[in-house]
Amino acid sequence: MYEKILVPIDGSEYSIRALCEAINVAKLTGGAITLIHVTPTGSSVVVSSKQHFYDMLHDTGRTVLSDRLKLAKEEGVKTGTLLVQGDPVDQIVKTAKQGNFGLIVMGARGVSKLAGLIVGSVSQGVIKNAPCPVLITR
Ligand SMILES: Nc1ncnc2c1ncn2[C@@H]1O[C@H](COP(=O)(O)OP(=O)(O)O)[C@@H](O)[C@H]1O
Ligand SMILES: [Mg+2]
Repeated sequence: MYEKILVPIDGSEYSIRALCEAINVAKLTGGAITLIHVTPTGSSVVVSSKQHFYDMLHDTGRTVLSDRLKLAKEEGVKTGTLLVQGDPVDQIVKTAKQGNFGLIVMGARGVSKLAGLIVGSVSQGVIKNAPCPVLITR
């Protein structure tokens, strides 16, 4: 159960908290974590280099993220990264389906901080279309 966990990261503090929860779940299940960041551009090209992944992230998240990942590694949690281009909702849902992920862990909100919404549009779209359970952190 929850052996493959997908964690969409936009660099926001919300997404870092999602990673922390994902690490907790992975420790309980012996699962592996895959971080995915989607850059909003045309065609979907997949790059899995860690450096590229960090480069594309919003400033807030960058250093915190690598600290957390180091911690996860020390605690024996397997982690990988995916950098994908395209529409965030489409790409996250597609990756979850094609990769047979059993759980998605993501933030309620992200970097855009539009007032008045309980969950952002990316979270909403993923909740609506995901092939697996979605854990939303706040
Ligand atoms: N481009 C993206 N790539 C990967 N994950 C994302 C991306 N944008 C948002 N997310 C995920 O969705 C969560 C909610 O963000 P979002 O729905 O965009 O809210 P907001 O409108 O506040 O930015 C984030 O915490 C993150 O987990
Ligand atoms: Mg956003």
